[in-house]
Amino acid sequence: MRIAILPSEQEIARVAADRICRVYRDKPDFVLGLATGSSPLPLYAELVRRYEAGLISFARVRSFNLDEYVGLPRDHVEGYANFIHRHLVDLVDMPEGAAHGPDGWCEDLEAGAAAYDQAIRDAGGIDIQVLGIGSDGHIGFNEPGGSLASRTHVGVLTDQTRRDNARFFDGDLDAVPTHCVTQGLGTIMDSRAHVFIATGEGKAQAVAEMIEGGISARWPASVLQSHPDVLVLIDEAAASKLELADFYREVWEKEGASA
Ligand code: F6R
Repeated sequence: MRIAILPSEQEIARVAADRICRVYRDKPDFVLGLATGSSPLPLYAELVRRYEAGLISFARVRSFNLDEYVGLPRDHVEGYANFIHRHLVDLVDMPEGAAHGPDGWCEDLEAGAAAYDQAIRDAGGIDIQVLGIGSDGHIGFNEPGGSLASRTHVGVLTDQTRRDNARFFDGDLDAVPTHCVTQGLGTIMDSRAHVFIATGEGKAQAVAEMIEGGISARWPASVLQSHPDVLVLIDEAAASKLELADFYREVWEKEGASA
């Protein structure tokens, strides 16, 4: 893992966008994995800004979302397909049909999940995946206790995740779905590279377990320790429980420019 502890969300967005732009320069038809939620929003705003400035084009890009709720109406504003259209896809030059997400509405959800995994493979695999983390350590919606090798599947959300996400549903816990379809940890690990973003005190324990704990299904994001290309971008609050924060700062200072 390359770890950068950065002073602001804007700086995190800038470094994350630089990483994605490097992938774009090498491969303008790259496959982009997208997280929803609040953590990547400054990054998506920065990508839109760079698109408007002519620094990146999404005309040949295909995207794959990490996850989708099950049980929301298809046009619900907090559905993840709608969320990603609103914050990125509709604001850049991505062609109709190039943005994909797990199907949370089909009759046979498991078959839909398997088809989604296959669609990612058929697209040649994800070149770079944007990741956030839940306060319980999930990535995608892979909650504690699941297989580290799972493929896209139907999952159950923890109470902690539902409480965390109630803020998107006017604080109404009952309105937060109980189920989801999510890329599995094995699917996520197949991505060639990752850019991981976490901010705020509420993520500090999950971030510490991800970076410095053992690899364990208790903290699903810890599986990323065995991926060769993960750029971890966090603010001071999210870094506050890291034992070796000073060492990571030193390494980033010496080697970060080549991230
Ligand atoms: C969303 C996703 C989740 C979020 C995580 C953090 O597609 O995969 O893992 O990244 O729940 O959410 P925020 O950023 O809202 O704190």
